[in-house]
Amino acid sequence: MSLKSEEDLTGMQQISQIVGSTLKRMQQYARPGMSTLELDQYGRQLLEEHGARSAPKLTYNFPGWTCISLNEEVCHGIPSARRFLQEGDLINIDVSAELNGYWSDNGGSFVLGQDIHQHSGLVEASKRILAKAISHIRGGVQIAEIGRLIETEARRSGYRVIKNLAGHGIGRSLHEEPHEILCYYDRSNKTRFRTNSVVAIETFISTKATYAQEKGDGWTLVARDSFAVQHEQTIVVTNKQPIILTAANQLWN
Ligand code: CO
Ligand code: CO
Repeated sequence: MSLKSEEDLTGMQQISQIVGSTLKRMQQYARPGMSTLELDQYGRQLLEEHGARSAPKLTYNFPGWTCISLNEEVCHGIPSARRFLQEGDLINIDVSAELNGYWSDNGGSFVLGQDIHQHSGLVEASKRILAKAISHIRGGVQIAEIGRLIETEARRSGYRVIKNLAGHGIGRSLHEEPHEILCYYDRSNKTRFRTNSVVAIETFISTKATYAQEKGDGWTLVARDSFAVQHEQTIVVTNKQPIILTAANQLWN
């Protein structure tokens, strides 16, 4: 969406604050032995306390309030009573929700407890790349150039990018124009970021795989023989540094 009024900005700030703090509190709540369903139910409780509604549920009838993806899963993991978190797991939680007709989206991968499988290099690289990508966005910048930056930075750190997942416009619905804010340079994409627009910027960084594949449950996407992470912030594009609406979360500590 393009922000047209003070009311639009306030509406986006409110839902982004809820989404950001829900993600942060879910990350803190996660414990070894807990099922992904239990973690999702905690997220549901936090969203409902604020009157917010799950975006993937509203939009796609997703079977959960949030997406929780473990290890080789990249995104859209379904919360389950039979999946249990373990020490050292690579966990991605993606929280998106709606309040008063405004929508926001915030995701982040993290290592649960002790980093016994040494995932933290990948996680830190993705967080750093997302921060750098966001710092280069302003009105008039080509979307494809941000993709180039993300891929270049990933390669420099010894990683790859997932090519079939992307960031997107957001605000009055979960997924809006521009639909393809990719993690690599797409020469055919001539579109530019527009001042006052709201977009969700996402990094999808992997140890090996460059495409995420369907797992077979109708939702979950996996990076075969790889580990992959995602970090996502909803931002307002300006003529200077973007405003990070979902910055309430611990990715930025
Ligand atoms: Co998301
Ligand atoms: Co998103």
